[in-house]
Amino acid sequence: MTNTYDAVVIGGGPGGYNAAIRLGQLGQRALCIEKRGKLGGTCLNIGCIPSKALLRVSELFEETKSHYPALGIKANDVSFDLDAMMAHKHKTVDGLTKGIEFLFKKNKVEYAVGAGALLGGNKVEIKGNDGATRTVEAKAILIATGSEPTPLPGVTVNEEDVVSSTGALSLKDVPERLLVIGAGYIGLEMGSVWRRLGSQVTVVEFLDRITPGLDGEVAKSFQRLLTKQGMTFKLGSKVVGVERKNGALEVAIEPAASGAREMIQTDIVLSSIGRRPYTNGLGLDKVGIKVDNKGRIPVKRYATSAPGVYAIGDVIEGPMLAHKAEDEAVAVAEIIAGQAGHVNYDAIPAVVYTAPEVATVGKTEEELKAANVAYKTGKFPFMANSRARANASTDGFVKILADAKTDRVLGVHMMGPEVGNMIAEAALAIEFQAAAEDIARTSHAHPTLSEAVRQAAQAVGGWTMQM
Ligand code: FAD
Ligand code: NAI
Repeated sequence: MTNTYDAVVIGGGPGGYNAAIRLGQLGQRALCIEKRGKLGGTCLNIGCIPSKALLRVSELFEETKSHYPALGIKANDVSFDLDAMMAHKHKTVDGLTKGIEFLFKKNKVEYAVGAGALLGGNKVEIKGNDGATRTVEAKAILIATGSEPTPLPGVTVNEEDVVSSTGALSLKDVPERLLVIGAGYIGLEMGSVWRRLGSQVTVVEFLDRITPGLDGEVAKSFQRLLTKQGMTFKLGSKVVGVERKNGALEVAIEPAASGAREMIQTDIVLSSIGRRPYTNGLGLDKVGIKVDNKGRIPVKRYATSAPGVYAIGDVIEGPMLAHKAEDEAVAVAEIIAGQAGHVNYDAIPAVVYTAPEVATVGKTEEELKAANVAYKTGKFPFMANSRARANASTDGFVKILADAKTDRVLGVHMMGPEVGNMIAEAALAIEFQAAAEDIARTSHAHPTLSEAVRQAAQAVGGWTMQM
């Protein structure tokens, strides 16, 4: 076993494992260190993939129970088996994490199971999960150690009845009442899972809107729909404490701007107020790296202040998304290999995988207004899309924002069926610097949901064919 590498990657999540694979493809001798005992990071093990597995099965259950009868499908006494649902989730995660080990072998990437720590210079110490310690050297060291849930004072997570997303992915029973703190990605996705399976879900959000960062108009419609589905929102409110009393949890809630305290009883509390970069035990001080006020490692084209040390993914600035980490992984691997790696941060999509889904890429109306950019808007509702009508799934709309002078697409925001897949077209349009008219005049198969994107692009130019 060699102890000298071209690159050592600390962390085996979407940032780390993709970087290691790309480094291997580029002929670099790469080692990836991961302490979890499984590759795939937060995303595969306790994030994107298990949450999507539960979103899918819970959506199928709700569809079958509540929507099929109106479509002529008789499914009497529909019920579910939570253990079997969880087994599907486990099987999915297991298969995918093993798939990365296979990709490592295929691309000649070495894998060390243990915790990596910077020793200074170009050295990294690996404390193996088997107890053995080893020191390795590399021309390039890549930190991809990801993130962890942000703790909330007064709310002690025990992953039993006061849970983070990790506990919310593995509840043993469907709680009668679930109180979610934070109306962001995790709160709304996991809240949807448990509501569909029977929980009464209350979401407490500090701000006066849900999903901050998403287009305001989309967020308003989204909240209306989630409310119609049975979720209760308490906006402009903060949780200040959780206590166990008489077999239930008592949650103390106050107005965000301070005021009278209210107590709510619940069975499970999910704390999902954001995530923070994770650099515990990494030895950043050994190489003189100082994190910023949000705990992120500052970088310039992924290079940190320490020579030969790079960082990507959730541990640096930018949206905490798996595909953003993956994009940076490819770019940094190419930079390390002497090529010109690059990520276009204007073209990174984001999706909330509820039903309907919400998908977004590029600038929001709020951002364009704040930057004094003159823009045109084109909108098209799924109610007027023939495929959505045939599918009996017509909630939502597509909105395209384009530069008032050049017609260049600046932002695309959608809520509706399968928009998580449809946002790829919008990301490509922004990447290629397309005009709205380019989309408007591109043939889209009929009848498809994607025609709504074309119709919204036509609406930017003041015409649409179906309304
Ligand atoms: P991580 O995936 O966090 O990986 C870092 C890895 O480094 C971890 O496995 C950790 O064990 C390891 N590590 C840390 N320190 C050390 C050390 N010293 N030595 C060795 N190993 C170490 N994003 C999406 O794009 N789409 C989604 O649908 C989505 N759903 C999500 C759902 C949930 C519930 C959560 C929590 C997150 C979700 N995300 C989603 C976000 C996504 O998981 C992250 O953005 C992504 O995993 C970040 O990748 P990363 O490689 O930077 O870090
Ligand atoms: P988030 O940032 O999406 O949402 C957190 C919410 O909590 C915000 O609305 C915020 O205003 C609110 N909040 C903050 N402090 C609060 C307080 N004290 N009381 C009440 N509300 C408070 O964070 P979340 O949902 O924890 O997810 C973390 C990250 O994981 C996301 O930002 C996203 O990057 C990633 N993720 C992505 C998913 C996807 O791509 N579909 C799914 C799940 C997570």
